[in-house]
Amino acid sequence: MKNTAVTFKEAKAKGEKLTMLTAYDYTTARLVDEAGINAILVGDSLGMVMLGYEDTLSVTMEDMIHHSAAVARGVKNTLLITDMPFMSYQASVYDAVVNAGRLMKEGRTHAVKLEGGLEVCDHIRAIVKASIPVCGHIGLTPQSVNAFGGFKVQGKGEEAAQRILDEARALEEAGAFAIVLECVPQALAAKITESVQIPTIGIGAGAGCDGQVLVYQDMLAMYADMKPKFVKQFAQIGSQMKAAFAAYKEEVAAGTFPAPEHTFQMDEAIIDKLY
Ligand code: KIV
Repeated sequence: MKNTAVTFKEAKAKGEKLTMLTAYDYTTARLVDEAGINAILVGDSLGMVMLGYEDTLSVTMEDMIHHSAAVARGVKNTLLITDMPFMSYQASVYDAVVNAGRLMKEGRTHAVKLEGGLEVCDHIRAIVKASIPVCGHIGLTPQSVNAFGGFKVQGKGEEAAQRILDEARALEEAGAFAIVLECVPQALAAKITESVQIPTIGIGAGAGCDGQVLVYQDMLAMYADMKPKFVKQFAQIGSQMKAAFAAYKEEVAAGTFPAPEHTFQMDEAIIDKLY
């Protein structure tokens, strides 16, 4: 079944849980799509896990378009959502619509995601009016890492919790089709989930959300720079990759790779004729 912004809303009404994983390239996108995951997020986390920056702030529109277009070529049934990078939408509603349009036209995405609450509602309204589905993102919004003073859980106190709940309602009212809730206490995420009609997708927000999202390098134990508490490692692909790279090095050094089955043959008599 093809996943769309519409089927996302229907899934919530039917009580079906949604799954989302990040991907940043064609090969990974095909694997995620074939595994039946509902949505792929081309997250601006690519700045950290693919490009090696310490945060997401340096990611450009060109980076996002390049990776989104690669992922789009690997997607069949999965809903493709692409992040709007830092400063591609904050400065004006005009910037937001133009850059969301570029992600759809050049990055071939099906929907965009942007971070923030009340301050981005006008931007969301305008993007939705241009027929581009928008996923919101509140709680810990990594593009505000400097304003937050680090990657910290949000919404623990009454005032902050109320603000995040109000933001969720405002995003729904502005036309978002889903909301990512990042690093908020489980009880707050559950309260938000029952307070809005659109699906909530949690990351570090507990099992009460309508769906879950993880960065694929985190869940495959491939990215060692940071291991947030909310990550479950579903496989040890990082150590398997390292072991495979080391085995390749050893076999090349020992002369056991390439073996005859990896090698092209020809009539040796021809070689003898060469001078
Ligand atoms: O950029 C990203 O990967 C994200 C997820 C962490 C939700 O925004």
